[in-house]
Amino acid sequence: MDLGLADRTVLVTGGSSGVGRATVRALLDEGANVATCGRDAARLADTAASLDSDRLLTGVCDVRDADAVRAFARHAAGTFGGLDGLVNNAGQSRMKRLSDTTAEDWRDELELKFAGVLNPLHAARPHLNASDAASVVNVNAVLAKQPEPRLITTSAARAGLLNLAKSLARELAPDGIRVNSVCLGLIDTGQWARRHAAADSGMTYQDWQAEVAADRGIALGRLGRAEEAAYAIVALLSPRASYITGTSVDVCGGVGRSLL
Ligand SMILES: NC(=O)c1ccc[n+]([C@@H]2O[C@H](COP(=O)([O-])OP(=O)(O)OC[C@H]3O[C@@H](n4cnc5c(N)ncnc54)[C@H](OP(=O)(O)O)[C@@H]3O)[C@@H](O)[C@H]2O)c1
Repeated sequence: MDLGLADRTVLVTGGSSGVGRATVRALLDEGANVATCGRDAARLADTAASLDSDRLLTGVCDVRDADAVRAFARHAAGTFGGLDGLVNNAGQSRMKRLSDTTAEDWRDELELKFAGVLNPLHAARPHLNASDAASVVNVNAVLAKQPEPRLITTSAARAGLLNLAKSLARELAPDGIRVNSVCLGLIDTGQWARRHAAADSGMTYQDWQAEVAADRGIALGRLGRAEEAAYAIVALLSPRASYITGTSVDVCGGVGRSLL
């Protein structure tokens, strides 16, 4: 099926690693123009070199910096003649329980999670308004629906973002902008490689992943791949998904608690 994304333009935040990078690759494969940002110039340069496309624009920008995000979105729209899609993907999780969470942790986490959606949205909005097939996809987590005590700030922030996405879907619908969420389970990206290194378990990465999958009750018995998450994101960006808004898709391999 032709997803109708050729010559469309999508801004993907956090495209220099993991799910964001896989999404950028998938969009380029569909013939779309892609603009992506991250904080680390070297990682962005590596991404640009490996994807090697004149339909890819990269820029150093922190999603918490509203002015920088606005300038990047304007640059992207100017380069490609508009914006049709936005993927709010940039972010990371915070491993903390209530007992070791400071007031600053709460502030930082809520700022990253909400600014990570609202700054790019405000920046992209005038350009999305001008598109005849505008779509916003928020990369969220199944934590939004079922919290994990060891990720207390991230779980709470994720739940708020899922709620926010529904408000956005309703408010932006009259402008023809769809808003949906993709809720990830455990996807094998840099985040998990870093946790494996930090765990210092003496296990191979593969064995450690199998143990994590069993511990979390993942029905498919493994972590997901970044391109499996990208598939859902790209499907929701597609003009073919023109009647889908205000909803969420779980990409989690059937995590036990999500099947209940
Ligand atoms: N992997 C999972 O199991 C999982 C599960 C649930 C939810 N998620 C969420 O899914 C998204 C992607 O995760 P991932 O596993 O692909 O992560 P990742 O491999 O660590 O990649 C994160 C990307 O976001 C960028 N980024 C982080 N903070 C940023 C900021 N403040 N401003 C701009 N860019 C920023 C990073 O680049 P720089 O560091 O250079 O800025 C990188 O490109 C994240 O929001 C994550 O929390 C992931």
